[in-house]
Amino acid sequence: MVVIGCDHGGFELKEQIKVFIKDMGEAVEDVGTYSTDAVDYPDIALKVARYVLENGVLGILICGSGIGMSIAANKVNGIRCALCHDAYTAEFSRRHNNANIIAFGGRTTGVEIAKQMVKIFLSTEFDGGRHQRRIDKISSLEEL
Ligand code: RB5
Repeated sequence: MVVIGCDHGGFELKEQIKVFIKDMGEAVEDVGTYSTDAVDYPDIALKVARYVLENGVLGILICGSGIGMSIAANKVNGIRCALCHDAYTAEFSRRHNNANIIAFGGRTTGVEIAKQMVKIFLSTEFDGGRHQRRIDKISSLEEL
């Protein structure tokens, strides 16, 4: 199970990524938006962040650039949202950063790169070890 959300800037790519995820045999929860009508990306980022935390699943956020979604999602305690642009960043967002949400841009990322990133993100595990100490330090920043 994976949860996905977008704003109007990411709507078309979200629809394509949903089909891709289903074709991989994975269930996908779509929390919107459901058209190209303008919406505010922080509202969607919060929905995906809550779903991730409540259900222990990975999430996907898409806006025009991916930037607003990633900034907003990372305001929620417990969320590590990685803005990714290629296979390398998608892989290491999981292996080193234990990211629980991937963000990318509907206006900046082509569909084939997005599919590649999603496949890698959903199938790559956290390396743990020394990286866990660093994740713990990130978590401690939430107390400031
Ligand atoms: C909406 O026009 C745009 O600002 C949004 O999709 C996103 O790119 C923000 O970071």
